[in-house]
Amino acid sequence: MSEPRKLYVKSFGCQMNVYDAQRMTDQLAREGYVETATPDDADLVILNTCHIREKAAEKVYSELGRLRKQQEELGRRTMVAVAGCVAQAEGAEIVKRAQGVDLVVGPQSYHRLPELLAEAESRGTHKRAKIVETEFPVEDKFDFLAPPSREAIARRGPTAFVTVQEGCDKFCTFCVVPYTRGAELSRPVGKILDEVRRLADGGVREVTLIGQNVNAYHGDDGHGRPAGLAELVRRVAEVPGIARIRYTTSHPRDMDEELIAAHREMPALMPYLHLPVQSGSNRILTAMNRKHDRELYFEIVARVRAARPDIAFSSDFIVGFPGESDEDFADTMDLVEKVGFAGAFSFKYSPRPGTPAATSDDQLPEDVKNERLYALQALLERQKQAFDQACRGRRLDILLEKPGRLPGQLIGRSPYLQSVVVLAPRAAIGSLAQVEVREVSTKSLAGDILGGEFFETQVPPSGGPRGEAGLRPAEKVEA
Ligand code: 5AD
Ligand code: SF4
Repeated sequence: MSEPRKLYVKSFGCQMNVYDAQRMTDQLAREGYVETATPDDADLVILNTCHIREKAAEKVYSELGRLRKQQEELGRRTMVAVAGCVAQAEGAEIVKRAQGVDLVVGPQSYHRLPELLAEAESRGTHKRAKIVETEFPVEDKFDFLAPPSREAIARRGPTAFVTVQEGCDKFCTFCVVPYTRGAELSRPVGKILDEVRRLADGGVREVTLIGQNVNAYHGDDGHGRPAGLAELVRRVAEVPGIARIRYTTSHPRDMDEELIAAHREMPALMPYLHLPVQSGSNRILTAMNRKHDRELYFEIVARVRAARPDIAFSSDFIVGFPGESDEDFADTMDLVEKVGFAGAFSFKYSPRPGTPAATSDDQLPEDVKNERLYALQALLERQKQAFDQACRGRRLDILLEKPGRLPGQLIGRSPYLQSVVVLAPRAAIGSLAQVEVREVSTKSLAGDILGGEFFETQVPPSGGPRGEAGLRPAEKVEA
């Protein structure tokens, strides 16, 4: 029997790329590929790329250069595929600009990977004619992508992403997504539930429903009617084993009353909402074609907070959008002060080819962008730290996800996506624990387990024999 072929996938960018990388791995597992942790011994390397900002897009070329050098040193030739949004946006440019790429494949064609790879291989080692596949095929890739095996699910741990929606019809003037991921498409409820059931069977407890514009979700409910995201969340919550649900990324315009009500009514829906605002200036929001103003953003935040008082917000910001004045930027700082965020991502505006804002005459100098980004990030970091500090002494439900750095430690996540270090046995991975937060540092929290799913079933009622995993949580924490 021949050795299994080894696959190394490196993903850049957003959570959808993480999900896509897993689906490509699952697809190729059927062809006999097994994952390897380094490109050194791989037979196939896939770079799953991101095109959102110039810096992200450039990474693919430095990575390809590094790969090539490494291969020369090792004296071996590996198949190299470039996937993701750079593949979609730049297509044949990539094979022109970088040597050693065998295949360029856009996000809508991942289900065709095995045949595309076979074709690339059959073209021979020396004179490989390159294959570039960036069509938006009529067939739905989700119908053809292989599901993960039970082992793959277990290996990936108790949290999982599930793509429920892809693409975007909003056309913000800075953004490449509508061009790289195409028009908005929602998967049917039934297919998503099948996938979630399978994940839950494999031990997954938390799913994050992902989409570039996830709250615009409108998948078929099985009766020919569109279901909104709130309905989907309700259906997912009914799947046995699923304890937590998140969704990302949302657009303020699509936060409807039903979804806000779901936050009020569904404890499984985590009280942490990533809601990008991009700017606090109405003038800039209009230029960005965001289809909302700051007042609408404040109103939504207030409504969501009224529905779920313990909710925390995170957001995305762009500074230095063309034409952004000092007053516009002051409006962004003011919005941040008024809302108060528990976390955020902020970026300097990066002109992207093919997007309307890239050709504006009002591009700002780099030093202005740097200054504003520095000021904004300092404020956001202060808010994040204040939020984390306010968690000291609070009791939070933590989903235990993986072993920690030191023996006996596990790392879990709070409802607010904070990493929390506790002392607990490995067998508790995948269970929810109630934890009192004791320490807060910049990177993580630490706490004491008060009880929880695993601990309640493991601790005998009184004085009985205790198994290895049945130590009382308090003793474990002191140990
Ligand atoms: N320049 C800078 N940031 C951008 N983003 C999207 N496009 C650009 C761009 N051209 C940011 C937005 C978006 C996040 C995913 O990336 O804040 O919400
Ligand atoms: Fe890009 Fe705007 Fe669509 Fe978000 S809503 S993916 S920023 S175009």
